[in-house]
Amino acid sequence: MAIYSFPMTTLPTSRVRDPRDAPVLRWGILGPGWIAHRFVESLAARTGQRVMAVASRNRDRAESFAHTHSIDAAFDSYDALLAWADVDIVYVATPHTEHHACALAALAAGKHVLVEKPLGVDAAQAAEIGAAATRAGLFAGEAMWTKFLPKFDVVQQIIDIGMLGPVRTVLADHGEHFTPDHRIYDPALAGGPLLDLGTYVAGFAYSVLGVPTTVAAIGQPANEHINGQVSAVLADSRGNQAVLNTTMLTNTPTTATVCGEDGILEIAGPFFMPGPFTVSLRNGTVLTYAEDPGTQVDGLHYAAVDAARCIADGRTESAVHPVVDAVRTLAIIDEMRAQLGISV
Ligand SMILES: NC(=O)c1ccc[n+]([C@@H]2O[C@H](COP(=O)([O-])OP(=O)(O)OC[C@H]3O[C@@H](n4cnc5c(N)ncnc54)[C@H](OP(=O)(O)O)[C@@H]3O)[C@@H](O)[C@H]2O)c1
Repeated sequence: MAIYSFPMTTLPTSRVRDPRDAPVLRWGILGPGWIAHRFVESLAARTGQRVMAVASRNRDRAESFAHTHSIDAAFDSYDALLAWADVDIVYVATPHTEHHACALAALAAGKHVLVEKPLGVDAAQAAEIGAAATRAGLFAGEAMWTKFLPKFDVVQQIIDIGMLGPVRTVLADHGEHFTPDHRIYDPALAGGPLLDLGTYVAGFAYSVLGVPTTVAAIGQPANEHINGQVSAVLADSRGNQAVLNTTMLTNTPTTATVCGEDGILEIAGPFFMPGPFTVSLRNGTVLTYAEDPGTQVDGLHYAAVDAARCIADGRTESAVHPVVDAVRTLAIIDEMRAQLGISV
């Protein structure tokens, strides 16, 4: 473990290992949609992981995805892929509402499972997936890709070693303008910003301040069917605060800031993707984490290789992003929804 002396003149270095060194798993993909394309591209470009099969509810969509990514096997049902022996782990890339059923089905079929965020539509679903994995002795994890990025390992170390002094305030926003034809407008698919973009800001606040003792949220509907934006203040047991916004009505700066008594850490937008950040200490020192901005293709693979390492070590969940972190983040979102009187 590195020993740091104060005042600090350099940032900690990332402990994230080379993704190409991870043990190789045979992957199956459930749901060949937007994020699945990027996940498979990311694995192909940056790891030695093998994508063996894809499943869709529709044969043409499965075959088209398989053709695009040179995948050997295409199934026209999720169950058919789960019954196939040549898959070790399943990546669930379906809409939020299907995550719970897909994950439990994968575990029941004896497959490890990595589920897109959110792990379930609420904390109870996420906890059930974790419990089922533990019972089966299989891995389950949420692909909250941000937490696995090298940059976030550095951010977490900065907070953990107290480089910023006592943290008093966290600010984070994630807004993206969507048109009404996107699934995020569909209540039947648990649309709305909270379970989508909101998982990043709630998860970030939780990773800095821990479980909040107070959550105060206000919302604005997008239309008569669905919430459009939420702003919330969270406080921990010492009164330290996080101020969060998530919206699907407008683009927002998508920045995140951690303010401590001895310095502030400012992550450029989009804070949840690869990119730079700056630490400005009260003594005048300014330290920069220099990283080219990237997108999902540059970062989704880190959660996958973390899963591969866990499985090789016989572990049923990630140490970087254990199931309890997904459950507690969803519990924050559950509380916001309860206060707003909305179901999704
Ligand atoms: N990490 C990230 O940066 C990121 C970014 C975007 C989305 N996500 C997450 O990934 C998940 C999928 O999002 P997406 O944007 O990829 O969605 P999408 O493009 O709509 O794809 C979802 C896929 O799920 C399948 N599906 C299964 N049941 C469905 C149902 N009842 N209705 C509609 N589709 C269904 C569909 O494939 P078939 O019908 O062909 O089986 C569809 O292609 C979401 O939970 C989201 O939170 C993560």
